[in-house]
Amino acid sequence: MRSLLKGKEIVLGVCGGIAAYKSVELLRLLIKDGAGVRVVMTRAATAFVAPMTFEALSARPVMTSLFEDAGGEIRHISWAREADAVVIAPATADIIARMAHGFADDPLTTMILAVDAPVLIAPSMNPRMYQNPVTRENLRSLKGFGFHVMEPESGPVACGDEGTGRLPGPETICEHVRRLVLPRDLAGESLLITAGPTQEPIDPVRFLSNPSSGKMGYALARAARRRGADVVLISGPVSIDAPIDVGLIRVRTAQEMKEAVLSRFDSASIIIKAAAVSDYRPVNVSDHKIKKADETLALELSRTPDILRRLGEIKGDRLLVGFAAETEDLVKNAATKLKEKNLDLIVANNVQMSDSGFGVDTNRVTLIFADARQESLSLMSKDDLADLILDRVKGIRGSK
Ligand code: C5P
Repeated sequence: MRSLLKGKEIVLGVCGGIAAYKSVELLRLLIKDGAGVRVVMTRAATAFVAPMTFEALSARPVMTSLFEDAGGEIRHISWAREADAVVIAPATADIIARMAHGFADDPLTTMILAVDAPVLIAPSMNPRMYQNPVTRENLRSLKGFGFHVMEPESGPVACGDEGTGRLPGPETICEHVRRLVLPRDLAGESLLITAGPTQEPIDPVRFLSNPSSGKMGYALARAARRRGADVVLISGPVSIDAPIDVGLIRVRTAQEMKEAVLSRFDSASIIIKAAAVSDYRPVNVSDHKIKKADETLALELSRTPDILRRLGEIKGDRLLVGFAAETEDLVKNAATKLKEKNLDLIVANNVQMSDSGFGVDTNRVTLIFADARQESLSLMSKDDLADLILDRVKGIRGSK
């Protein structure tokens, strides 16, 4: 289990909208991440979800009124003072209007006026209400005051209308909270990350590929973005959701990946090639599905471009990280690749172990640095490994 929010105090403000049920899941995610969470509910919110639900899950009292007896504690001030971040989800048109005008007539608005920590607003309402010029203006002024405002999602809403106004999923909101409270130690860096397999077509319905899931590269992209970097992710065909606020470019073949990488190369300061690029492609791609005929069928293959080798030739000051998926002589083969491709770091991965490499959520790798230093890591989640690789990349950057 990851504890990215360990030791952090988060205040969750819940307002009276249908999406209030999603705040229950958001609370669970924040707690799973290690945060201590205090919940403040507007009166309308209590009509949708009982305070008891939040109280039981947070193991803390829930604030629903300014006038509760809290044994002498002035909660709306002490909770505001102790918060590392406040997230209001769902934020209704009403709370947005009242916050924009400095109201302090319920526990949530009153606390917000006393908060110094970042406040994240996740609006959720009927699309017409969201598009209403008054709501737009209120959100504009809240942004001007320094509040962080999420864009609602589009789709059908509870009342049957369709448009922008749905509360984003709890994981998306939780990821924004992490970004607000965790150190942005990669701010100013531009990362170019590749992920997933490539597919090299044989005919219209068949291709050469490998079982790469893209999980490692996507974990790197999420972690780098969370830590403040600008991120472009060039991805082969995978079935993972696009990370939030990451420029995602989808490609299929090694040739397409090469073109995408080279076109984005100039503006990158750090390049991490986690993609499992096919080394060979069929020389001839049939226009039609190849029919069964003879007992054997020979495919003639030719080398695909070695993108990483090319990047090693032209990298300049950029930091270049490669991956090596090996089934034998792991460290020796990876160290050779690091030298040949002029890398700063290579992540060597034994893909024959069932808990490491393709498809799974964990990895057991050895890091090899340009100065021949090695670091053998124990089994860890790809998310943890992503942060550790970024720590080492930062270390290399600092020592250059
Ligand atoms: O030589 P090998 O394919 O094992 O090297 C793996 C590393 O090289 C990975 O970082 C992969 O993304 C990259 N690579 C590449 N272009 C290829 C083959 C691999 O960029 N054609």
